[in-house]
Amino acid sequence: MSRRRILSGMRTTGRLHLGHYMGVLVNWAKLQETEECFFFAADWHALTTEYANPGLVKASLTGMMVDWLAAGIDPEKATIFVQSWVPEHAELHLLFSMSTPLSWLERVPTYKDQIENLKHKDLGTYGFLGYPLLQSADILVYRADGVPVGEDQVPHIELTREVARRFNHLYGEKVGPDEPPRGPLIEPQALLTPASKLLGTDGRKMSKSYNNFIALGEAEESAKKKIMTMTTDTQRVRRTDPGDPDVCPVFDYHKAFSDQATRDEVAEGCRSAGIGCIDCKKKLWAFMDAELAPIRERVAFWEQRPREIEDLLVGGSLRARREAEKTMAEVRKAMGLPDHEAIRGGAV
Ligand code: TRP
Ligand code: SF4
Repeated sequence: MSRRRILSGMRTTGRLHLGHYMGVLVNWAKLQETEECFFFAADWHALTTEYANPGLVKASLTGMMVDWLAAGIDPEKATIFVQSWVPEHAELHLLFSMSTPLSWLERVPTYKDQIENLKHKDLGTYGFLGYPLLQSADILVYRADGVPVGEDQVPHIELTREVARRFNHLYGEKVGPDEPPRGPLIEPQALLTPASKLLGTDGRKMSKSYNNFIALGEAEESAKKKIMTMTTDTQRVRRTDPGDPDVCPVFDYHKAFSDQATRDEVAEGCRSAGIGCIDCKKKLWAFMDAELAPIRERVAFWEQRPREIEDLLVGGSLRARREAEKTMAEVRKAMGLPDHEAIRGGAV
């Protein structure tokens, strides 16, 4: 059986935390074992909101790659690359912009939400409205079968499917009266990644802006301290009060890191007040440290090697570009546009 082609991206907005690790990176690392994977740093997408700070976007790239590599994303197994190093994404986005109705973009739910949430930034830009269309180009230029994303991104995959269908309809080869035209693009599936259950250390959603996160490469002492002072079942005030693991954010960490026996033991002990929160957290930390210590070491390793990271991204981007170029050759042909190679050779 041939491997499915998988593509996913992450905006370059800063270093990653345990929420990204459990929510996204563990899943990518698993997929790379069995599927043909392309994972990229979406630096152009970061610019749609950070256009006033391009330096910040650039500076985030290496750090994010350190975190990917440390989490086990393997350049020998997956193609790891940078969006802006593969200009075919931009060319396809431009061609899509000709035929995509504005209403399709205006009705994408993330559009109005984000404008509301980021009031301090002027997002009334052309690029920001086009964010999901650029994402469609990211996906369709590789003819990906599957796109692992969180729930919030599903409307973007829906749009991508509509864009592919419309392109094939407009420019595809008519094969018969009852069959849809055969075009070069394929409609991808969204592969839903369950949202990370790991809340921040204050019990709210884990986020940079709340300063309640544990960074992927966080020092042992600091990470441990955050766990030991983390919010628990707020109804459990005294050691003698029984607690409810189902409403305790610490227990979600047990589900992510601990073995089944420990989870059962802690849940029972919590409900019967047989275990205190300090001991519960100590047990958790033992499992977390076992998983995070090697990641921490790899973070330190890659942080010393920015040149190697750059080389690896150049290699990955060239490989990605060869695939993107194959699609673009067919896209240009379908639209009757000249082939870039032919122009270079002076034979248009
Ligand atoms: N919009 C995605 C996010 O915010 C990032 C992204 C950009 C992406 N292009 C993509 C994800 C293509 C999957 C496929 O998470
Ligand atoms: Fe949470 Fe553990 Fe305390 Fe129960 S014992 S409230 S699961 S920290």
